[in-house]
Amino acid sequence: MSLATSPQLTIDRATCAALDAADPLAGFRERFDLPAGVVYLDGNSLGALPRATPAHVELVIREEWGTGLIRSWNDAGWFDKPRALGDRIAPLIGAAQGEVVLGDSTSSSLFQVAVAATRLRPGRRVIVSERGSFPTDLYILEGVQELAGADAGGPLERRLIDDEADLDDVLGDDVAVVVLTHVNYRTGRMYDLADVTRRVHEAGALMVWDLCHSVGAVPVDLAGAGADFAIGCTYKYLNGGPGSPSFIWVAERHQAEARPALTGWHGHARPFDFGLDYAPADGVARFRVGTPQLLSVAGLEASLDVWADVDLEALREKSLRLTELFISLVDTRLARWDVEVVSPRQSARRGSQVALRFGGDGMRDGLPETADGYAVMQAIIGRGVIGDFRAPDLMRFGFAPLYVSHTDVWDAVAVLEDVLATETWREPRFARRGAVT
Ligand SMILES: Cc1ncc(COP(=O)(O)O)c(C=O)c1O
Repeated sequence: MSLATSPQLTIDRATCAALDAADPLAGFRERFDLPAGVVYLDGNSLGALPRATPAHVELVIREEWGTGLIRSWNDAGWFDKPRALGDRIAPLIGAAQGEVVLGDSTSSSLFQVAVAATRLRPGRRVIVSERGSFPTDLYILEGVQELAGADAGGPLERRLIDDEADLDDVLGDDVAVVVLTHVNYRTGRMYDLADVTRRVHEAGALMVWDLCHSVGAVPVDLAGAGADFAIGCTYKYLNGGPGSPSFIWVAERHQAEARPALTGWHGHARPFDFGLDYAPADGVARFRVGTPQLLSVAGLEASLDVWADVDLEALREKSLRLTELFISLVDTRLARWDVEVVSPRQSARRGSQVALRFGGDGMRDGLPETADGYAVMQAIIGRGVIGDFRAPDLMRFGFAPLYVSHTDVWDAVAVLEDVLATETWREPRFARRGAVT
């Protein structure tokens, strides 16, 4: 049953509790350590802490580091962790074993693969991306344009689209690479990964996907789509912890020829020969750079134990139930504040988050007449409902299906409604901006 398309259905808190009781994923909540009284709707930014993580990280610190010392590079398998954990991420993105490796940050991993991709299309001088990309992707691509274009007498050209519908206007035989984010960080709008990849290949270009808001949020089938490269982060839906490493996927057919931007010793074929010249390792391991951040890797290792037990189809079903429930409650209970659901209402086009904005252009006491999204978000965070805000006007709510319940959604909308009805968001303390929003 689709909640969003069933206006005749009266939803109350008891309905939500019944949905929780029938939820096949409900048991996963116990595997996370969330503070009492918090409804956490920001797992699309920083995932929650798995219960097993502190003990595992402590074991790595005390036993592998403290006792094993340098021996742990061999005895605890430290050197191979980025590849071994890559193999555990592979099933979450439709990749084969041997196609995924951990990187450093998502930004640096995008640099690694985008340079490699452009080098596989010599003579083509255009990179296509999207205006609505997370900004680091565009910043990184500027560096790629400069580096990859250097041999050909000037930076590569950049063409930006606003939507996948615009692709045909920009694709031509001069396009080397298209870099797009599968699920948009602001709106949650999701591209048709297979169709976009097919159109990019028809133009003879290569496809690089940013999966930051997809992995652990929606099923992804890179192999089925025949894509070329992908990168993503592990600190959002995968719950690897703040600053946990990125991952890099390179389709097997490109691995032998691909030349990454950064040619470090951990990507060398024989790093412990300490030879003078770089020789790439076989396969995706050549995309490694230097010593991995093993304490962050340990955090990810613990969270991947949780993911090993997750049925991705059930995850998607629950994610859609949660976002549909949220949208339908916003529609029915918040309508008088002129709230716009910015995320696609069509489920197939939506990831696991919903963005809202307030309409109306009138002002009262120097603040918007309807409501100010930033202040409203601060006010609900003060009441334990944690989402976030993206300038200029979006309130983002992420629904991580492993630990968000239907009753959480009910409670979140109830708090939103109360903050709006009582206008507590107008208190000056909620207008103060921190460095991170
Ligand atoms: C779509 C997308 N790409 C890239 C990044 C940035 O990645 P990092 O800071 O890990 O380099 C983010 C961060 O939220 C993101 O949402």
